[in-house]
Amino acid sequence: MVKAIRVHEHGGPEVLKWEDVEIGEPKEGEIRVQNKAIGLNFIDVYFRKGVYKPPSIPYTPGVEACGVVTAVGPGLTGRKVGDVVAFAGGSMGSYVEELILPANKVVPVPPSIDPTVAASLLLKGMTTQFLLRRCFKVEPEHTILVHAAAGGVGSLLCQWAKALGATVIGTVSTKEKAAQAKEDGCHHVIIYKEEDFVARVTEITSGSGVDVVYDSVGKDTFQGSLTCLKVRGYMVSFGQSSGAPDPVPLSALSAKSLFLTRPSLFHYTVTRDELLETAGEVFANVDAGILRVRVNHTYPLSQAALAHSDLENRKTSGSVVLIP
Ligand SMILES: NC(=O)c1ccc[n+]([C@@H]2O[C@H](COP(=O)([O-])OP(=O)(O)OC[C@H]3O[C@@H](n4cnc5c(N)ncnc54)[C@H](OP(=O)(O)O)[C@@H]3O)[C@@H](O)[C@H]2O)c1
Repeated sequence: MVKAIRVHEHGGPEVLKWEDVEIGEPKEGEIRVQNKAIGLNFIDVYFRKGVYKPPSIPYTPGVEACGVVTAVGPGLTGRKVGDVVAFAGGSMGSYVEELILPANKVVPVPPSIDPTVAASLLLKGMTTQFLLRRCFKVEPEHTILVHAAAGGVGSLLCQWAKALGATVIGTVSTKEKAAQAKEDGCHHVIIYKEEDFVARVTEITSGSGVDVVYDSVGKDTFQGSLTCLKVRGYMVSFGQSSGAPDPVPLSALSAKSLFLTRPSLFHYTVTRDELLETAGEVFANVDAGILRVRVNHTYPLSQAALAHSDLENRKTSGSVVLIP
């Protein structure tokens, strides 16, 4: 038996219960991993609330962690006991001390990367990679708008985009978060709780608008984000921290020949090669000093409810990690 967080019904953070679970032995193609650190992601909140449907109820939350291989299934090659691996994807049930995983879903963690950093980085970093390099390819001549610029994904987006040479405009809710976003490479920071971000973006871009908006806030920012775009701009709506955006009529795009996409990391890491290449680029950027991972908050795994409450109440910045 190992300890895990379990959810028996959808609801607030209080539905996250600390319980014993049986995990068994790895079968063919599987490995057992003892978690060293578990990444907290906003998607964990959507699953807990029932906005996204978990595969079953009760379920173990969590989509990301880093740990050490403690057993390998019969006949498995290429993976051995003692390997440090990380994983990020679908409903993996990572809020647990130890778990069984398909071996082809984990990536090796370079010795230079601390397990806590890996757990706080893999999902958010791979998201940053596909958003900046594949969904829309950011180049030095681009001006980009990043909402929630001091958040887990936002912090990495700003750092990487600055390194690519783009002009980065970030939005945040507080002065403290504004200071962090500046340090992370934002050329302009807008406190969107106090200022009209559309008016400020218009001013900053002298009326021309931005090439791309990376919008993870959703409901509260979506319409304004469309207004901020230049002709033929890209609206990348990749999250809904404030709620799902209202339906968009095609006429909202035809007004400026805009592009709109609602991408998911899981569709950009479909094959094993895509997964390894994406993770490899993220780890390489940490080694190169392009990404400085902010593990700003750690909680014992047993206190996952407090961590959820802080994340959804906008009290966190950078990454949040749960320690088993
Ligand atoms: N599509 C994908 O593949 C993918 C992958 C990873 C993450 N995501 C999305 O990316 C977003 C960021 O994820 P994360 O884990 O790094 O979280 P996060 O950005 O660290 O936390 C969410 C942030 O959103 C902002 N926010 C604005 N309005 C909010 C509201 N009403 N309630 C709560 N937060 C609000 C807050 O920043 P301020 O206080 O500065 O406003 C808050 O800190 C999430 O929407 C997530 O679903 C999508």
